Amino acid sequence: MDASSAARPAVSARNIGVRFFAERRNVTALQGLNIDVAQGEFLTLLGPSGCGKSTFLRVVADLIDPGSGAIDVLSSSPPAARKRRDIGFVFQDPALLPWRTALQNVELPLQVGGGAARKGRRGPRELLEMVGLKDREHAYPHELSGGQRQRVSIARALVSDPKILLMDEPFGALDEITRDRLNEELLRVWKETGLTVLFVTHSIHEAAFLGQRVLMLATNPGRVREIVPVDLPGDRTLAIRETPEFVQLTAHLRRVLESC
Ligand SMILES: Nc1ncnc2c1ncn2[C@@H]1O[C@H](COP(=O)(O)OP(=O)(O)O)[C@@H](O)[C@H]1O
Ligand SMILES: [Mg+2]
Repeated sequence: MDASSAARPAVSARNIGVRFFAERRNVTALQGLNIDVAQGEFLTLLGPSGCGKSTFLRVVADLIDPGSGAIDVLSSSPPAARKRRDIGFVFQDPALLPWRTALQNVELPLQVGGGAARKGRRGPRELLEMVGLKDREHAYPHELSGGQRQRVSIARALVSDPKILLMDEPFGALDEITRDRLNEELLRVWKETGLTVLFVTHSIHEAAFLGQRVLMLATNPGRVREIVPVDLPGDRTLAIRETPEFVQLTAHLRRVLESC
């Protein structure tokens, strides 16, 4: 990657506004949202329910057209980025096909998209190994734990070799120990792949542990409340949560969140 392309943001949102009309009233899901997400950045999005976190990810993924403002994804429009398969999406519900094995679920986007594995990129087996499921590739979803199913859905999102990974409360339904482990592993995957990640969470600790910055949104209308830089070492293990810096940061996030 040359210097000029590295300097271009992965996502550049200018004055984004999204309104919905539902149940005979207008909802301003997002208003005047501005953010540049750097290539390779890990950005977490934190805010109360209904503040537009999912809506913003859907705008980036070209699932919603913003009513106002402009958005660039890797220097092109969201539809163009979608066509290039630059974007992977992981939801809270892994939504695996029950009649396909872990490996077959990961292979699915390649079969649906008609694209053979591109040279040099990680194939389905390698991705399952990367997410720690090397010996479970022939297991069916019902034979896997909730955490393992979510690992499969991460591998599936990566099989098209996206540049940007959007994650909408992916670990929200998991128990705390499993979530902690997946957080650590996600950081490892992020480093290995160099992906840009936009990660939505309700959890202050998760937002602080994973993010290089935390985008805090407020509700009614959904808008940016504060963008908080995370001044913690790049190499993070869960032990970092015991440090005064981490405790101070989460206390700040909690204060801001309470005022959202
Ligand atoms: N498709 C939709 N139709 C109508 N209202 C919607 C739709 N999607 C989201 N909203 C509303 O927009 C606001 C933001 O929603 P959302 O982005 O899902 O919030 P979050 O993910 O932060 O909880 C909420 O008030 C929600 O009810
Ligand atoms: Mg949401």
